[in-house]
Amino acid sequence: MSQTNETDLMDTIVNLCKQRGFVFPGSDIYGGLANTWDYGPLGVELLNNIKQAWWKRFVTSREDMYGIDSGIIMNPKIWEASGHVDAFHDPLVECKKCHKRFRADHLVEEQLGESIEGKSLKELDAIIQAADLACVNCKAQEFGSARTFNLLFKTFIGPAEDSKSVAYLRGETAQGMFVNFKNILDTMRPKLPFGMAQIGKAFRNEITPGNFIFRTLEFEQMEIEYFVKEGEWEKWFDYWQKEMDEWVQSLGILKEEYKIREHDKDELSHYSKKTIDFEYDFPFGGFKELYGLAYRTDFDLKNHIEKSGVDLQYFNQQEGEKFIPHVIEPTFGVGRTFLATLLSAYTEEDAPSAKGGTEKRVVLKLPKHLAPYQVAVLPLSKKEELSSVAKELFKGLSSDFSTEYDETQSIGKRYRRQDEIGTPYCITVDFESLEDNAVTVRDRDTMTQERVNMNELKTVLKEKLA
Ligand code: GAP
Repeated sequence: MSQTNETDLMDTIVNLCKQRGFVFPGSDIYGGLANTWDYGPLGVELLNNIKQAWWKRFVTSREDMYGIDSGIIMNPKIWEASGHVDAFHDPLVECKKCHKRFRADHLVEEQLGESIEGKSLKELDAIIQAADLACVNCKAQEFGSARTFNLLFKTFIGPAEDSKSVAYLRGETAQGMFVNFKNILDTMRPKLPFGMAQIGKAFRNEITPGNFIFRTLEFEQMEIEYFVKEGEWEKWFDYWQKEMDEWVQSLGILKEEYKIREHDKDELSHYSKKTIDFEYDFPFGGFKELYGLAYRTDFDLKNHIEKSGVDLQYFNQQEGEKFIPHVIEPTFGVGRTFLATLLSAYTEEDAPSAKGGTEKRVVLKLPKHLAPYQVAVLPLSKKEELSSVAKELFKGLSSDFSTEYDETQSIGKRYRRQDEIGTPYCITVDFESLEDNAVTVRDRDTMTQERVNMNELKTVLKEKLA
């Protein structure tokens, strides 16, 4: 990211997202709904490009990975076996005056600047009292005792809303993979080590204000469960750390914009023996979790064997042994990828102004394969003789590239708009084009322009975008 004032950067990004059709506040015409957002036409393109790049890299280009798409609503016994019904919770405190509720750990972290992951409820109460923390809403300094609340979203199947009909919206995509483990063994006959992968929505009843799309009630995850022999878990943990590192850099994120942090023992999730977070330097409060990499041991498969009574062991034919594989889990939030990629790509620079001197130019320097539009076709004027050629060109290009057509406003303004939404190449059709069958290709980052014959345009663009 490159902007003078870091504190304004978040507002700038939120505004850009709204103005340019990337992200809108959820339920906007009804006054919104906290921690929900909707993706607009450009946002959905960027999201899809992120997910496609991930799927290609980690699923279709590998021999050892099996993709699935499991249900959001599954048998509630799955969430009992996985430990989520008992252990998937956050600490909550309520202001005694205005009754607003907060995540106790976030309240302490924000007001004292200390990370207090893994503290018990009693310890949290003591810290809040000793430091006289104030309610963010009404400034009162009196909170009720901290208690836990479960993050799983509950719903009911069928007409009766009783304990027998309770179901949960999945809190992670991971469980859909564990419960399909046997299906993959039986149908695909994979050899260890191998992985299962899934992209899909997860739901969590978050109470802390979300910092735009950083923390939302529903979000997409791209997850891998990689099954290995127990004795080899460390080797595969290191392997996936490197793979994740390369992925982060493929998003255009620079080394200095993120770091890796290992969880303390008392901070680990109920299923993990070792976890590292990839933390991005977000403009709100510094380094925060972008992705996680966890060693889940055989926790999930073992518990599903116990609770379902189904044998989920792997049979190694060569060595004639049967065992429960251990799991390395690289997990990636799609929304956080979207946000970090945008923040990292956002650039302001001085550019020559049409009126002389310089003016501010905003450019989203997104990696070309992620940009919502790869190409924009811009006729110099709306005159029929130009627009008919430009529309024909648009038709031809749009079968190979994600292409936009725009003939409104001055060409300078249209270039600026394409820069702001990250379009790598603008194609201008001008009156000369009618004579020489050539168009101008403008590069987003360097602003250099070159003349290319329309017959060669596709080939040239394919090379540039490769
Ligand atoms: N299966 C493991 C798991 O779910 P997690 O750390 O709870 O681990 C994985 O979540 C990733 O999902 C996080 O690293 C983050 O990118 C994303 N994520 C988690 N909670 C989120 C939320 N409320 N809103 C947006 N993204 C979230």
